[in-house]
Order: sequence, then structure tokens, then C-alpha cells
Amino acid sequence: MVSHEIRCWDCNSTVKDRYADTCPSCGGLLTIKADLEPLKDKRPEDLHKTPIGVWRYSDFLPADPENKVSIQEGGTPLYKCSALGKDIGIGDLWVKYEGANPTGSFKDRGMTVGVSHAAGIGAGTVGCASTGNTSASLAAYAAKAGMKCVVFLPSGKVAAGKLAQAVFFGAKVISVDGSFDDALDVARRLSENRELYLLNSINPYRPEGQKTVLFEIMDQLAYDVPDRIILPVGNAGNISAVHKAITELKEIGWIDKIPMLTGIQAEGAMPVAAAFASGRTDFIPEERPETVATAIRIGNPISGRKALRAIYDTGGYSASVSDAEILDAQKLLGRKEGIGTEPASAASVAGAIKLREMGIIDRDEKVVCICTGNALKDPDTMISSSEPPLICTKDILSIKNII
Ligand code: F0G
Repeated sequence: MVSHEIRCWDCNSTVKDRYADTCPSCGGLLTIKADLEPLKDKRPEDLHKTPIGVWRYSDFLPADPENKVSIQEGGTPLYKCSALGKDIGIGDLWVKYEGANPTGSFKDRGMTVGVSHAAGIGAGTVGCASTGNTSASLAAYAAKAGMKCVVFLPSGKVAAGKLAQAVFFGAKVISVDGSFDDALDVARRLSENRELYLLNSINPYRPEGQKTVLFEIMDQLAYDVPDRIILPVGNAGNISAVHKAITELKEIGWIDKIPMLTGIQAEGAMPVAAAFASGRTDFIPEERPETVATAIRIGNPISGRKALRAIYDTGGYSASVSDAEILDAQKLLGRKEGIGTEPASAASVAGAIKLREMGIIDRDEKVVCICTGNALKDPDTMISSSEPPLICTKDILSIKNII
């Protein structure tokens, strides 16, 4: 466990309250400032005694591995996608498949650290607002920790698999009449009153676990730093966490090249991409976000400003893709590589296709797309965007005619 303190990302003041999720002085976003000095004497291989996964990187994490709440998260595959790369004109294309996490999304990386911290400070009830995956993950980790769990979901807009997980793991599921942004408002007010310990990515501990996807990519590529990493952006916690991980590796001298962080949003929910298009460092919230990629159907991303800094600081890019482009990319990834992702995850691949066509991505770039969630999360979308099953009798001859 790294020695650390909570700092305000905006005014840099130190925050003593371990329950806080905004700065008591200026209302700004929080972050963890870790003392990375001991890591400067180490090499990446020194951590390899522990199997690949979130807790291999506990020297970078503000939680005690001895008391961790874990269901063996991380250690997800990094696939080289030659067939897809050839198809879309990118010579060195990789997919980091976060759908292989225990509850089927990247959220488990943040949740193991966030819930471990919650247990450490004696939180009895944890909660979150969610477009689905955060709630599924939190419900599982709360179950493992023996905590009560309350989740707030935008009514009617959560994919079936995710809702099923949250109720199955025993969370109290509350459907809020409104968007994700409304649900987050409710959860934050309850957290201010200490009714629950909030584990959305505004919590400074949770993104710390999410840094580990970058550490794993580096280990899996033997520290051959990719030119570009592409991620879907919703509430913008993940791209900010990946940026923090890059900054930390640079600080301790393990890398000197910086991958260009590229954030992709859906056309119907694109405040970060719109801000980037006009060169702003802040974004204008969108009132009525809408997209088939319900996981990233967010108009007022809590870490939107952090995401924009991540993109500008790394010389990256941000763009939006249409729902049709997302569904096409989802299918292409499935049919060229056998990788099943939910629509929001496929936004990274849709972004790769679009930016290659626009000439933003060069043919010979080494590109890693992070695919954040498993296809099984949203079976309805997979079924409706694919050919229906063929119906026939047991007659072999007629079957031969249709296959
Ligand atoms: N991909 C998937 C599959 C997600 O579930 C999310 C976010 C994102 C990408 C975007 O990540 O918010 O860190 O920018 N899902 C959240 C949730 C909002 O509640 O499950 P982000």
C-alpha cells in the first residue's frame, strides 16, 4: 500500500476527511497524491512475483492488500487483432478485453480498491448511481464484504444483464425517474448526509484501482509503449484514471513516451468530444443524452474536466460516433476476432475506425482499444442487431438448402 493523501485536483489543498468526495474548500474534484519515491528504485519486473491482476500493483494503490475485498479482478487478456487491423487499416491493433473481469466490466478494478477502502473506514452501507455496470460491480463487492448496498439507476435505460446482476447480488435497486445525472444527484445527496458511502468515480479511491488497466497493458506489451490508447468516455473516470497511471509511470521513470489518450463518445451524449472540438478545457452539460450505448448515456460527466486534461496533456483526441457506427464496430469485432463487447465498449473500436478514415490515426501506429464491458451485459442489443435464427422442420433436405 502506498503512503498517500487526498488532494483537491482544482486547488491542491489537502483533504483530511476520508469520506469526502469533493473539496471542502472549493468544491473541486478530488484525487490521491501518492508518495511514489520507493518505486523509483524498482523495475516493473520486481512486481511480477504476484500474478497479473489489480493487486500486483499494490505499490501504487492506496489500500492495504492484506485486508483487500477481492474476487480476483484484472489480469484480463490483451488481444492482438491482426484481422480487424487489416480490415480497418491499422497495422498494429490490440484490444484490452475488460469484459473478462469477474462481473464482466472494468468497474471491478476500481471497486476492489474502493470497497477495500470503505471496509477500512468502517462504512456499513455503500451506494452508487449507475448506467448499469458500476451497480453490478458494487453489488458483488458489497456482497463479498458483507456490506449493505443501494444503487440508483435511470429508469428503463439499464441493459438487462446489468440489472440482473445488481438484483441477484442482493443490492437494494432504486429506479430513478430521470437520467443517470439525476440518479447521481440523488446518490450524492444521500452521501452528503452520510446515509451511504458513495462509490461512483467521483470517490478518489475508486479510480486508483482503474489505473491498473494501464499497468497491465504495459506489462503485457513488455513496456513497448503504444502510440495511442482509445477508450469510451461516459462519466469520464476511466480515461482520467489511465492518465493518472501514465503520469505516475513517467514520474518514477518507468516510461518516457506518453501514449495519446483518445476519448470516444456517442453522438447523442458527447459533451467532452464537443468541448475538444472547440478547444475548451471545460464542457457544456447536455440535457437529454440518448444512445444505444446506454452505459455512456451521460450528459454531465463528473470527471469531464479531468478527461479533457488527459486528452490535451497527452496530445490525444476526442470524437463522437453514431449509434450505427457503434453497432457496426461491435459486430465487426465479434466477427473478425471472436471478441464480444457491449455497445459502449465498441465505441472505442468505432472511434479507431473513424479516426483512421479521417487520417488522425496513422497506418503504422500501435493502437490499444480498451473494450470495457462484456457483450452478455446487453443481450437484447446483440439479438436485435443480428440476423434472427432460421426456423425449420427436422427435414435434413430442407436444412441443407438453408445452410
Ligand atoms: N464502458 C462501459 C461498459 C461503461 O459501463 C462505462 C461507464 C464506460 C465505458 C465509461 O466509463 O464513465 O469512466 O467514462 N459506466 C458507468 C456505470 C457510468 O454506471 O456503469 P467512464
